[in-house]
Amino acid sequence: MIKGENIMKILITESIAQEFVEDLRSQGFEVEEYLGHTQEEIEGHIKGCDALIVRSATKVNEALLSNADCLKVVGRAGTGIDNINVPACTEHGVIALNTPTANNMAAGELAVAHAFSIFRNLCDANEGVHNGDFRRGNWIGIELEGKTAGVIGLGRIGSIVSRKLKGIGMTVVAYDPYVQTDKFEKLGVKRCETLDELLEVCDLITLHTPKTKETYNMIAKEQLYKCKRGVRIVNAARGGLVNEQDLADALAEGQVAAAAIDVFDVEPSYNKKPEDQVFDNVLLHAPHCYITPHLGASTEEATYNVGSQVADLVARALKGEMVAALNMPAIEGDINAIRPYCNLAEKMGKMYYQTEKSPVKKIDVSYAGGIAGQSMEIVTMSLLVGLLKGMGVDSVSYVNVKECAEEFGISITETYEQEVKKYNNLVKVTFHNDDGKDLVLAGTVFEPDTEVLVSFYGYEMNCTLSDTVLAIKNDDFPGVIGSIATTLGRHNINICSLHWARKDKKDKTSAQAFVAVEQAVSDEVIEEIKACDGVRLVSLIEFS
Ligand code: 3PG
Repeated sequence: MIKGENIMKILITESIAQEFVEDLRSQGFEVEEYLGHTQEEIEGHIKGCDALIVRSATKVNEALLSNADCLKVVGRAGTGIDNINVPACTEHGVIALNTPTANNMAAGELAVAHAFSIFRNLCDANEGVHNGDFRRGNWIGIELEGKTAGVIGLGRIGSIVSRKLKGIGMTVVAYDPYVQTDKFEKLGVKRCETLDELLEVCDLITLHTPKTKETYNMIAKEQLYKCKRGVRIVNAARGGLVNEQDLADALAEGQVAAAAIDVFDVEPSYNKKPEDQVFDNVLLHAPHCYITPHLGASTEEATYNVGSQVADLVARALKGEMVAALNMPAIEGDINAIRPYCNLAEKMGKMYYQTEKSPVKKIDVSYAGGIAGQSMEIVTMSLLVGLLKGMGVDSVSYVNVKECAEEFGISITETYEQEVKKYNNLVKVTFHNDDGKDLVLAGTVFEPDTEVLVSFYGYEMNCTLSDTVLAIKNDDFPGVIGSIATTLGRHNINICSLHWARKDKKDKTSAQAFVAVEQAVSDEVIEEIKACDGVRLVSLIEFS
């Protein structure tokens, strides 16, 4: 995959499944696996990289972003994004994306596995027997069935955990102030209005929230002592949600009977050999605290899903495709249904400077028909990306497009109307330029995914847009069309869609031809067409 003369480079700092590394290479990207390096080494190595793929250890922070000179995309192979400074990415014009669904099942199952383990003393029993102690009476557990589980955070992973715990006969209550009551009802989970309400009734508490200012240390001494004595706690979400020192103390005092921890507030390096590991944490020394090394996403399935999704998204983003990203507007509805409108709008944006010279000051975009029932902001952004790329702003992306447009003094409005004539959906773009002209392009999408231009600066047409189109102003007399088509044919250029339009039948000097072709058109061919009798103006419009 090339940018100008150079091959685009993807740096991978934490391992993803090898087949997807190879897949990226087979698409023509240069891929460097730079594994097991320190943050400082990574920050010093980021120059020249167009994309970066990380997991949870690499910090995508201001220092790293400032060292990057051509970074366009950061792909987080996983769910949590507390290691990604998303606003800083936006400031640097870098698309930040993650794979928010790929490892949910793995994370959910780990939390449930830990719950079973700490209810039945599996780790202690295992250690005992390996030390020759088979006195099973020492490891009498308690059953999960009939007990109450409190799920903090009812997002995707919290929901999976709730379903599974209900499946084994637990009563599940949950606390999540951001989730609507419907979801609680659908899951058959009782909604707790406050965290305290949940703490007071649970035998098991499992956390499933991101780490934010709001959730950091949300379970500290005060909360731990509001719980029933002997409560068990699982944290396979993020370190720091439970205050580590307070948890260690509560375990020592027996207020908490057992805890299972998969994550630390400050994480160790997960690549170092034991002899090289320098890590300590109060929970490593606390009684009945059972620790795994951030294994939430460590299943074969999650590794496959995460690698596949991150590689696909990063490759597509580098190729300029619209992908769901953390620092782009959320795409309402089906992304696949909106994508053809994004392609259409980007083409309309690219068309302007290939056919007009006067700078654009303002753009009005109107969406009519079925598409008007949802936000089309991403389509408007595609239009701006096309326009700015047409102005030579190569660094423009969905992330920085609004700022780029502002820099050029281009303002944009969006309107939505349900009613539309002739078409099911219509995107109409009015470019207001410095010459005081209002130039209108309109287009639609025909099934399946065919972008069609239906109005070109006031000329009504119906032209499927290929990668190369000739817009030709010509006199309206017999033979003009023939000579243009013959010229193209002589150069082996195949016409795939052809439209002639007139605004006024009596005006014989301003017909408009719109010729979509399948091959590139050289300057020489353009000159030959310009020389055809009756041809007044030829604009070559290229979209790729
Ligand atoms: C996640 O946020 O996706 C999980 O915590 C897994 O993190 P990891 O990619 O570092 O294993």
